[in-house]
Amino acid sequence: MSRVIAIANEKGGVGKTAMAINLGAALSQENKRVLVVDMDPQHNATIGLGVQVDDETLSVYDLIVETEDVSAGDTIVQTQWENLDLLPSHPDLAGAEVEIIDTPGRERKLAQALAGVEDAYDFVLVDTPPSLSLLTVNVFAYVREVIIPCQMHPYSYAALESLFDTLDIIREGINSDLSVTAIVPTFYDKRTGLSEMIREKLLKDGRYSDFVSQAVIRTNTAVAYSTEAGKPVVFASRRSYGAWDYTRLAEELLAGQ
Ligand SMILES: Nc1ncnc2c1ncn2[C@@H]1O[C@H](COP(=O)(O)OP(=O)(O)O)[C@@H](O)[C@H]1O
Ligand SMILES: [Mg+2]
Repeated sequence: MSRVIAIANEKGGVGKTAMAINLGAALSQENKRVLVVDMDPQHNATIGLGVQVDDETLSVYDLIVETEDVSAGDTIVQTQWENLDLLPSHPDLAGAEVEIIDTPGRERKLAQALAGVEDAYDFVLVDTPPSLSLLTVNVFAYVREVIIPCQMHPYSYAALESLFDTLDIIREGINSDLSVTAIVPTFYDKRTGLSEMIREKLLKDGRYSDFVSQAVIRTNTAVAYSTEAGKPVVFASRRSYGAWDYTRLAEELLAGQ
């Protein structure tokens, strides 16, 4: 069965988009068929996978607002890389919430639109916007697993707590099958000592300890450059720490199956 996973954290700038792109790319290199779904109106994952959008581009916006007329097949595009497809986002997605708020089944628009699509993939990775919005709720209603990039910074703790509370609420009301697969330390920097201190704090905290991944994503400028350049770091800079770390994470995810 395919794995359908949200990359989520209510905080911005913690490495969600970089993870959706690069974990997706690393899994595709392991011969897994991967679909990245970009659910952030800022569409950084779309750009990071080398896809340009304009007013004509059919995106996840059309998919969830025009459910009758637009199908997933109309919107999914192939990237330049084998086994790696993208459902692009568009700035218009920011307005989608207002457009669907009064429609029945508003939390399940994405799940409905993508029903059956996962049969063509081993992994569907969904990048999420940095706030808890109806768009994020649509993602949590659709996926079965959540991977949480957690920046090694003191404020990360508070964000985790609120995300875990949100997931509890989602499980009670909308999606009882939703489980946390991993909390992945990101922006890990062993020189400062702070990163390791926070990682150890997570490992000692009963609420989180079972989920903390062995893989850590180190701070690495190759990652930042590659997202700007529209090419995942595992393809752009194979020998970088970034390529190494996301590949380790992909292997850990595959080993846990
Ligand atoms: N491991 C990393 N090392 C260095 N820079 C990174 C790393 N991961 C992400 N970045 C950069 O940090 C910024 C925020 O990351 P991003 O993935 O966009 O976070 P989010 O999606 O959670 O807002 C981006 O400019 C991105 O290129
Ligand atoms: Mg992002």
